[in-house]
Amino acid sequence: MKNYENVVIFDHPLIRHKIAILRDERTSMKEFRELVEEITTLMTYESLKEGVPTTEVEVKTPLETCTQRIVKDNAIVIVPILRAGLGMVNGIHVLFPSAKVGHIGMYRNEETLEPCEYYCKLPQGIEDKLVLLVDPMLATGGSACDAINLLKRHGCKHIKFMAIIGAPEGVSKVAEAHPDVDIYVSTLDRCLNENGYILPGLGDAGDRLFGTK
Ligand code: PRP
Ligand code: URA
Repeated sequence: MKNYENVVIFDHPLIRHKIAILRDERTSMKEFRELVEEITTLMTYESLKEGVPTTEVEVKTPLETCTQRIVKDNAIVIVPILRAGLGMVNGIHVLFPSAKVGHIGMYRNEETLEPCEYYCKLPQGIEDKLVLLVDPMLATGGSACDAINLLKRHGCKHIKFMAIIGAPEGVSKVAEAHPDVDIYVSTLDRCLNENGYILPGLGDAGDRLFGTK
């Protein structure tokens, strides 16, 4: 895969360790859900190193008053792509408990692999926020591209997209279609199979999170 300025692939031993357990077919639904949350928290920490709206406040310590920089109130909106993105929301809420949540519902047509949008509900004022769009799987990139297009149609200007596992085809597609969006992927897998599943991947993230298979 080409190097893209707007793509960060985390190569962190702790995240790799957790993803190894996530991939394992023997990992239970409960453990899977917990791991997705933990990985998301680690990814959020890394991906917010830059571009977070901050403000200065005065803080009085027991010794003196100092000026400190804090994250602006309500600066961040979390937007999961349903269903599997839902599994990542708590991992961000741990860090930003009052972040509002928008929802974009998309499923892939099993034959064409094209995304179909079936739901969209976004918080008012989202256009001025930093939007953290989340989905554990970035396969062909169709769902992420469409979700970003939808956010842009709603006026969003500052979008970061986080996926736990990415396929090279999908990462390239989103990076090229949306050079203004920061893309964070925990690990880059080999390729897609003939059904559009990521190899080695982890199977169907939604089914593993919600026990639907
Ligand atoms: C999965 C996944 C992504 C999408 C990725 O969702 O959570 O949204 O596929 O594939 P793409 O990059 O090729 O678009 P799915 O369509 O299986 O829906 P679900 O989350 O409801 O199971
Ligand atoms: N969606 C998933 O849940 N898994 C894949 O491997 C590809 C798309």
